[in-house]
Amino acid sequence: MKKILIIHYSQTGQLTDIVKSVTAPFEKDETVSVTYEEIKPKPAFPFPWSATQFCDVFPESVQGIPCEIEPVHFDPNEDYDLVILAYQIWFLAPSLPITAFLESGAAKVMKGRPVLTIIGCRNMWLLAHETVKQKIVKSGGRLFGNLVLADRTNNLLGVLTITIWMLSGKKKLVPGLLPAAGISDQDIHDAARFGDLLIHALEKNEPGSIQETLNEHGAVTVVPQYIFFEKRIQAIFKIWSRFILKKGNRGNPARKFRVQLFLGYLFAAIAVIAPVSTVLSILAAKLKKDEIKHEIDYFSKNIVD
Ligand SMILES: Cc1cc2nc3c(=O)[nH]c(=O)nc-3n(C[C@H](O)[C@H](O)[C@H](O)COP(=O)(O)O)c2cc1C
Repeated sequence: MKKILIIHYSQTGQLTDIVKSVTAPFEKDETVSVTYEEIKPKPAFPFPWSATQFCDVFPESVQGIPCEIEPVHFDPNEDYDLVILAYQIWFLAPSLPITAFLESGAAKVMKGRPVLTIIGCRNMWLLAHETVKQKIVKSGGRLFGNLVLADRTNNLLGVLTITIWMLSGKKKLVPGLLPAAGISDQDIHDAARFGDLLIHALEKNEPGSIQETLNEHGAVTVVPQYIFFEKRIQAIFKIWSRFILKKGNRGNPARKFRVQLFLGYLFAAIAVIAPVSTVLSILAAKLKKDEIKHEIDYFSKNIVD
């Protein structure tokens, strides 16, 4: 019997649907036993968000300052054959509940175990995954594989639809005019193909990384221009997050003005800076072909530098 632990968190239920799809083949397999652990932040994050609440999680997300979570139910000393960590991205970083799990004592469950990550995000996950990989390795986990499901609409349209979704709770606000926000139902449904590959890989004792096999089935797509784009945005995010944190922690009224300034910056960045930056990043990706080839290779392989 192969024992699999699945650690997950989802606000809207999107990532839960992805996890259910990937693990559907496990449910039919009698040689596999699955334990689900939902990470529960204390208190829960609001959904839909107000614009201020949305931006108030920004500094802690960027700086990796964990929120409080409820104690987990699984035994961290149990010898699981595979640990699956399903997470989403908040401001180019792992979401706060996932950061909290990775920083908690329960993270020792990954020690000596293969760890598969499943990311469900809009489209920018590269730098967040660097942080997650490092924390997995620090806990003694082995990087087994990474699956990424993202919104496939173009970047600017995707920003618009996800903003509407996060602030109104409506995934399909204007059917026919705007595409539905987030990851397509088809992509979520098709993620079941990875479950079969995982079962097959687990049949071997001490399986190594299965990233190459997963990639042959479309597990990871690295968009060249986002490599430059993310690095540029992250550098700016670090400055803004430190500026806000000087006025106090999440929820502190003293920092509300700075949080709202950041909100203004975010809207300006989306409307004015993002289109220019997108063009510059596409140009940079074309001009720096050798550098980009090396980086695509690195991000696709799910390894740590
Ligand atoms: C506060 C916040 C910040 C986000 N920042 C990013 C981001 O930087 N990159 C990205 O690809 N998606 C980002 N997203 C989208 C999430 O990764 C995710 O796809 C969405 O919130 C749905 O996830 P769920 O399963 O938790 O409902 C953000 C979402 C929230 C709520």
